[in-house]
Parts: sequence; structure tokens; C-alpha cells
Amino acid sequence: MGRMSDSFSAARITDRVYWVGAIDWELRDFHGYSMQRGSTYNAYLVLADKVTLIDTVKAPFFDQMLSRIASVVDPSRIAYVVANHAEMDHSGALPRVIESLKPEKVIASNAGVKTLAGHFRLGREVTGVKDGASLSLGNATLSFVAAPMLHWPESMLTYLAEDRLLFSNDAFGMHLASSQRFAEEIPEWILDYEGSRYFANILLPYSALITKLLDKVGKLGIAIDTIAPSHGPIWRKDPSWIVNRYARWAAGPPRDKAVIVYDTMWHSTELMARAIADGVAAAGATAVVMPLKGSHRSDVAQEMLGAGALLVGSPTLNNGMLPAVADVLTYLKGLKPRVPFGAAFGSYGWSGEAPAQIEEVLDTMGVQLLREAVKVRYVPDEETLSQCFALGGLVAARVTGQAG
Ligand code: FEO
Repeated sequence: MGRMSDSFSAARITDRVYWVGAIDWELRDFHGYSMQRGSTYNAYLVLADKVTLIDTVKAPFFDQMLSRIASVVDPSRIAYVVANHAEMDHSGALPRVIESLKPEKVIASNAGVKTLAGHFRLGREVTGVKDGASLSLGNATLSFVAAPMLHWPESMLTYLAEDRLLFSNDAFGMHLASSQRFAEEIPEWILDYEGSRYFANILLPYSALITKLLDKVGKLGIAIDTIAPSHGPIWRKDPSWIVNRYARWAAGPPRDKAVIVYDTMWHSTELMARAIADGVAAAGATAVVMPLKGSHRSDVAQEMLGAGALLVGSPTLNNGMLPAVADVLTYLKGLKPRVPFGAAFGSYGWSGEAPAQIEEVLDTMGVQLLREAVKVRYVPDEETLSQCFALGGLVAARVTGQAG
């Protein structure tokens, strides 16, 4: 974007496979998920007898992708295009690819055919493939693995047997713009942070399906030397690094961590949050306090990984909870974190409905409420703060397994 279209290069992954995607340094919001480091849209070129493009990029990055393709092969030689996933960050440039390169075949899962038709007027047939189907590229073979809900119902993965390479689309990805293409070139703490943030904000609701997919791929008995996802770095040196983390995040065993999320008007609910945190810590568990004036909903989602308890506080404003609390609860409800325990709290002036509304959402999320909400009129006194401290102790006992 903003450069001559012939000034981008492809990155070699194997003798046959090149990264020809786009780097989006500016991206900071992905439908509500806030990121700090942008993202990449990874498209890949397989230089087989039938030159094949695996996925495309977000529509405005078409020129960047095309110039990377042109750095290794005449783009008009692309015979096949595989669309693993119809979401627009990967399919947005597909209409222009079809229009300008006129590939012989465009391939998607059977469900993907319908989704692409719903998105674009492609003006041509898309070939649907079933789970387990193969496609010969002449001197190489692609196999397709259905991966429903990872990230959409039509998602699939593509495996290139000759190079033992899995094009995993959204799975095993992260939102991380970088001039480096390979995970081994990036500090591990960044991979851990951005990987867990992506997992929590995108894939958390589908944790059980990830466990199933890992099991399914394991049973296929296919050798995987490289995982090439559709966002972020390529896993070449040690793909098991990200696979093991996915297995752990998906299984999500809760640990002795209580996340205390709140917003406040005149610091009363804030004082309650602090007293709860003190009670948690005094009883030997970990307290993470997240004031919503500083913590984004994506930060809270990330902390849900491994959380044993979720405590949510809000004062009452106009008979309801504060907007920031409603925002984070709406977001968390959709992500379905499996947090076993929780409670609500908050100060109020005259009506005090907010804690009960919070309890309702926590209940919908399957969170077991450890006690009725702690509420206080106006400013918490010593007795209320003692109740909050005691709630922290109760939470700690549950998350450390010291209470039945
Ligand atoms: Fe990266 Fe679901 O799109």
C-alpha cells in the first residue's frame, strides 16, 4: 500500500513454497479485538506443475500480494487458487485474482463455496472439496482437512505432503506484523503474548473443537515439518511450540488466579475491588485487578486463559451497570471462557440494580456464584470492606482447591 507495486518480495519457505502475503502494520482493531502490533495476511504460492495460490489477502492489499507473486513467478501462471476460509481478510482479494489472473480452478470447502457466493459475485464456478479430498498439482499433491468453526463453519486446512507443510489458515496464527516471517526469528515472549491474545479473543469459544482437530490431525498420521498459518509467523523450526500451547489453552485448566474486573464512578467500587484482591492474595491465590478505565475487553479476554474465578463490579447508573462493564460482559459471554467461580459487587446510591444484572450474565456464562453480590450504598465502610476481603478469601479457597 502506498508503494510501487513491483517493490515487494516473496519469502522462500521451501524450494516449492513461498510466502506472498501482506503486512498490515496499521491494524489495531479486528471486530472488537484490540491489538498493538498489527497483523499479516498470509497467502502462499506453491510452485508445482500446477502453480497454486493458497488463500489471498484483505482486498486493499491485492497489489502487494501480486508484486510478491511476481517476484518469483509470472502471476498469469497461477492455475489453481485454494480458499481455505471465506472471511474477507483472506478472501477479499479473490475477486481481483479471478478477474485478472483467470485461474483454471478455484477451490473451497463445500460450505466455503456457498459462503464465497454470499460474499462476492465471482461470476465463475468454485470447486467444492470434501474433508479428506486430494488434488494433484502434477508433481505435488494437496489434501484438504475440514476444520469447522476454526474459525468459521466453512474453514479448512490444506496439507502439502511432499513438503510436509500444513497451511492451517486461522489456526496457529496470531495478529503480529513483523518484518520477520519465521517464528524462530521473533522473541518468545512476543509469540507467547500475541499467540495467547489471539487464541483468547478469536478461538476461545471453539476450544473443544481445537482439541478435536489436534486429535484428528494426530490420527491422520501426517508428518508436519512446517505450519504456515494465515496470520503472523510461520512455524518451521519447532511447530510443536504452538501446537502444545494450543493444546494447553484449549484444555484451559483453571489455576489459582482470580480476575477482578470493575469500573467505578467515585472510587467506591474501586475500593471494593482492592479489598477483594487483598483477600485473594492474603489467602495465597493470585489476584489480577483490571480497572476498565485502563483495561480493554481484549485484555480481560486474554486473562480468562487459566482463570479460576471472575469477579465483576459496577456501580449503578440509571438503573444499570456502567457501559464499560456491559461491554466487557457482552464480549466475554460470546467468548464463553470456562471460568468455574465468580461473584458480583458494586456500590450504589438509591436503586442498586447493577450487581444483580452482572450475576445474571455470569450465570449465563456458567460461572458458579460463590455468594450473593456484595453491595454498598454510597461509600464502603469498614464492614463492607471486610465483606469484600472475606469474599476474596472465599474465592482463594475455591481456586486453590482448599474448599469443597
Ligand atoms: Fe483470519 Fe477468520 O479470518
